[in-house]
Amino acid sequence: PNAFTNHWNSIDEIATIIRSCTSCILHAERKHAVPGKGSANARILIIGEGPGSNENQQGLPFVGSSGKLLDELFAQIPLAREDVFITNVVKCRPPANRDPLPDEVKACHPYLAIKDPTVVVTLDRNSFARFYPEGKNSKDHGKILQWQGRVIYPLYHPAAGLRNPALIKRSLREHVLRPREFL
Ligand code: URA
Repeated sequence: PNAFTNHWNSIDEIATIIRSCTSCILHAERKHAVPGKGSANARILIIGEGPGSNENQQGLPFVGSSGKLLDELFAQIPLAREDVFITNVVKCRPPANRDPLPDEVKACHPYLAIKDPTVVVTLDRNSFARFYPEGKNSKDHGKILQWQGRVIYPLYHPAAGLRNPALIKRSLREHVLRPREFL
């Protein structure tokens, strides 16, 4: 089925199910699952990699330094966090922040929370691959792509912006403005 056709009635319902989910091994070490945050009617869906240590502690996405940069970037559009729904490929933290395994990614597939995003911003390989299995973030970041009537917009992960401020931050700052055209 289409990634955005699901049988959930509300994002609260999904969140409740995610918090008690045991579909993959990542549930074993979680403190808090991180279902996502924002409005069910948001037109921009941002998909990150997975919860890190801060997110696992608080049960909220992007609350650490990557989140701060993301807020800064999206403030330029301007968009508030309420205009977007922000979530991750996997909803529970992989131990020591390792990459999620394919079966863990797959186990979380049913949990994309919003029904009708106009623009889907993907921030990592796994979130991009869901729509563009052959895509490469290094080559495709900043391209406006189409997928079943929606815009898929791969960007560098803000963590890369923090590691390599000059180059990646500049690219993120320029690119983050483009979804404005579609809203
Ligand atoms: N990095 C991510 O990809 N997701 C988060 O929620 C936090 C940091």
